Amino acid sequence: MSIGIVPSILSADFTRLGEQVREAEAAGCARIQVDVMDGHFVPNITMGPLVVEAVRRSCTVPIEAHLMIVQPERYVADFAQAGADVIIVHLEAAPHLHRLLQQIKGLGKQAGVALNPATPALLLDGVWELLDLVLVMTVNPGFGGQAFIPATLPKLAGLRRLITERGLACDLEVDGGIGPQTIALAAQAGANLAVAGSAVFNQTRAIRENIKQLKDLS
Ligand code: DX5
Repeated sequence: MSIGIVPSILSADFTRLGEQVREAEAAGCARIQVDVMDGHFVPNITMGPLVVEAVRRSCTVPIEAHLMIVQPERYVADFAQAGADVIIVHLEAAPHLHRLLQQIKGLGKQAGVALNPATPALLLDGVWELLDLVLVMTVNPGFGGQAFIPATLPKLAGLRRLITERGLACDLEVDGGIGPQTIALAAQAGANLAVAGSAVFNQTRAIRENIKQLKDLS
């Protein structure tokens, strides 16, 4: 079964965001990811709950809010209210991760944790019972169009083994530098979802063709 493609709107044309999100949905994307950045946890500043609301009005597929922000506990309710279905927080920004995941689940949303390239997977040991998704960053977060970091693949494969051995109902997703040259590596290592921004949106070819190519290659 091919990997689910999750276009991230970071690289979309914001003068046509609704149109592009609808094109991605029509092309069979699994979800849409909204890349939230605050200029503190990562150097870039991007978007907030208003954009999640706009994407919610534009499509019916699940929306992931990827919170690349400090103090995510202050904002998870706003993103839940805005229409996010999955709220992904960074382990590195959550000293009270267990409580934060309980907060997200308490809002009736799926809870995800993102791990930066340098963050070991063993740090998840205390929270597996709360996890609906693990997002393995395959770039250092902050910008689209960066190069895939192959050194993250062993972590991805180890997480797939753990999730399978324990029979956990937890998605395993990759994010960063996913394109025609790298998606097969991610799929072979065990990801069942792949976030792709620049490989889907800022290309000369149609969104539909880009998503089909990624699915065919996975
Ligand atoms: C973190 C962002 C990006 C984005 C995907 O920098 O989360 O990874 O979603 O960007 P591409 O697919 O262009 O690497």
